[in-house]
Amino acid sequence: MTKKSGLRLAKRLDEVGFSDIVQIRNKVLDLRASGQMVHSFHGGEPFFDTPEPIKYAMLKALVENKTRYAPSSGIEPLRAALAKKLQTRNRIDATTDSVIVTAGGAHALHVAFQAVLNPGDDVLLFSPYWTPIRDMVTGAEARALLVPTATARRNGLTKTLEQFSTPHTRAIYYNTPQNPSGTVFSRADAEEVAAFAKKHELIVIADEAYEDLVYEGEHFSIASLPGMAERTITTFTFSKSYAMTGWRIGYAVAGELFMSGLKKLVLYSINGVSTPTQWAALDALSTPQSVIDARRAEYRAKRDMLVAGLCECGLECETPEGAFYAFPDVSKIHKDSRRVAAMLLDKAHVATIPGVVFGAQGEGHVRFGYSVPTDAITAGLAALKSYFKATPLTAKQGFD
Ligand SMILES: Cc1ncc(COP(=O)(O)O)c(C=O)c1O
Repeated sequence: MTKKSGLRLAKRLDEVGFSDIVQIRNKVLDLRASGQMVHSFHGGEPFFDTPEPIKYAMLKALVENKTRYAPSSGIEPLRAALAKKLQTRNRIDATTDSVIVTAGGAHALHVAFQAVLNPGDDVLLFSPYWTPIRDMVTGAEARALLVPTATARRNGLTKTLEQFSTPHTRAIYYNTPQNPSGTVFSRADAEEVAAFAKKHELIVIADEAYEDLVYEGEHFSIASLPGMAERTITTFTFSKSYAMTGWRIGYAVAGELFMSGLKKLVLYSINGVSTPTQWAALDALSTPQSVIDARRAEYRAKRDMLVAGLCECGLECETPEGAFYAFPDVSKIHKDSRRVAAMLLDKAHVATIPGVVFGAQGEGHVRFGYSVPTDAITAGLAALKSYFKATPLTAKQGFD
């Protein structure tokens, strides 16, 4: 009798992909290592350094020997400060017990999906979407139902959600401001999604990673609407607001039922975020609002400069209302965004991310991250302009 090999991965990982964005980052690193100049618009992290007081708070925690195990859900002073922030800034009815500290927003989202999804469940996901979300849903043995954001905006959110929903729909992933499109959902949008979730008894996983980067209008948290706190897990991160991407700290807020699951998942995945990092995060929360506002103004100026430059190159580019990405339509060059991104990298040395990696609805676009120094935007646009001058924008120019 032949014995089957026991050396195999768990089946639930079969359909889980590994980030295309990482592959592009590696290619850029290779090009740089070979001495080539690359204009980097492929990234997605703040251009500025972590503010000094936050770094000193970490050092102070180390010197004071705050280096031991902390409660797995987070140190009490941080959770209390987060609850206060959530009440005042997000108008979410939070208490210290309804907040949990996670290893970044990505971890908060992973534990949120793991806490509420069963095999065979469906999750509504506005598309284009942040790439890891689909893999997180698949990793929970559920299925992502892609809801085209553009269609939802044109035909109405409720109608479009109804159209894409199935009898197995259990949750909606609601990201505002959105990566990669920069779309910001308004209060009225949140009210529609909330009414839909209540009508169909759905859970909302809200991702507010870019809450401090809204340029037009105001950020609005869906969990602040009546009856939504109990059916929503809202995730946040210190990565974008405080330039702390490498620190790996974020948090989630949820009602008692979901929190009981989140606590188990955080305990068994990381047993809590590093203790000194949590003390530094507590300090980050006292960053003056004026500092955050000044950064937002800088991002806004970069956005305006990049969008104007892309339009001058002949690309159609809507002005994004939030986050730090522009998502121009490049279908004039070629409908396959992977080919366009490869061409821009090889010929103009401009690194972008092909829109299709953010879902089928992102095809025909590429993502430019504009969280880069202003002179890098100037140089990148100059490279694009000279390339398009030499090779006009048309699918025929030796590209097909
Ligand atoms: C939409 C969105 N949500 C969540 C995150 C998570 O960020 P982090 O894990 O660094 O907190 C990101 C990071 O790029 C993002 O773009």
